[in-house]
Amino acid sequence: MKILGIETSCDETAVAAVDDARQILAHRILSQDSAHRPFGGVVPEVAARAHLQNLERLVRETVEEADLTLSDLDGIAVTAGPGLIGGVIVGLMFAKGMASVLSKPLIAVNHLEGHALTARLTDDVPFPYLLLLMSGGHCQLLIAEGVGNYIRLGGTRDDALGEAYDKTAKLLGLGFPGGPAVERWAEKGDPTRFTFPTPMLGDGSCDFSFSGLKTAVRYQAAELTLDDRLRADICASFQHAAGKVLGDRVNNAIRQFRARHPQGKNLVIAGGVAANRYLRGILEALGKKTGMTLIAPPGKLCTDNAAMIAWAGIERLKLGLSDSLETEPRARWPLAEG
Ligand code: KG4
Ligand code: ZN
Repeated sequence: MKILGIETSCDETAVAAVDDARQILAHRILSQDSAHRPFGGVVPEVAARAHLQNLERLVRETVEEADLTLSDLDGIAVTAGPGLIGGVIVGLMFAKGMASVLSKPLIAVNHLEGHALTARLTDDVPFPYLLLLMSGGHCQLLIAEGVGNYIRLGGTRDDALGEAYDKTAKLLGLGFPGGPAVERWAEKGDPTRFTFPTPMLGDGSCDFSFSGLKTAVRYQAAELTLDDRLRADICASFQHAAGKVLGDRVNNAIRQFRARHPQGKNLVIAGGVAANRYLRGILEALGKKTGMTLIAPPGKLCTDNAAMIAWAGIERLKLGLSDSLETEPRARWPLAEG
């Protein structure tokens, strides 16, 4: 089975071809970073227009690189939400056009499920597993019990962790996108210089709150004259606080996961923030302590990409799940009701 995947829900235009032997046959990602950089964040309309300009070419290049013709494809998988609605509409309409003209199944994929199933593409992880999904718009802990079957243990009450990274970078003038920049600066900094808030630590829940952390960074950055030493120390202290909270929450989640699945042993991380090496280190250590194995897909498959959408399409199509050409784009689309 060979599936084409299309991802346009944020600021990456991505297309990939993947087969059911877990091979990525071709994979194209066009980052729009330079278009959004002057604004310090993603501008939805700029993103949608860029998807429109580039998608057709990327599809052609991907199919060529995979050494396929369009008729070799068994289906078209596309992100149908959640995300910036203009971009989602561009991708979904394009995929519907392809599916219709080629008479192939359309698979409307939840972007979050794309992230959630990536570890099954890269590491063939069996269900059930504990899933920490952390991206620019989401931060949640779930139990993945099957395709389309997720139990939510907790999530953020305000900002997503990626958002906190991006805002910290913006406050410190570190550029866009923020997450990788904060990680780089943190490597040179002193994590003990500032004590940033670690809300709800020790309360036993699997919920997060990152808005206080962001506010503390803003006050700290305003209080002192920013120089490179200070930037690095704030980044390191911020990341230290984020890691502490993450470790505590995941520890609680492991307990809940084990209560439901005593034999379960895999902790999977997904989403753009899962590319962060420092946080991976913390979770790796926690895994060792609790007898869980950390499964972390390579960084380029943690951030938004189309291979994960194609793979989710394969998983769904294998179960006989496909979608009608009437499928609507969705700006909001929870993976599991809390
Ligand atoms: O999954 P993703 O590519 O897009 C969304 O679906 O949101 O995640 C993007 C987020 C951004 O907030 C970005 O700053 C963050 O992931 N991110 C990172 C790193 N790489 C990307 N955050 C921390 N450390 C990183 N290395
Ligand atoms: Zn994402």
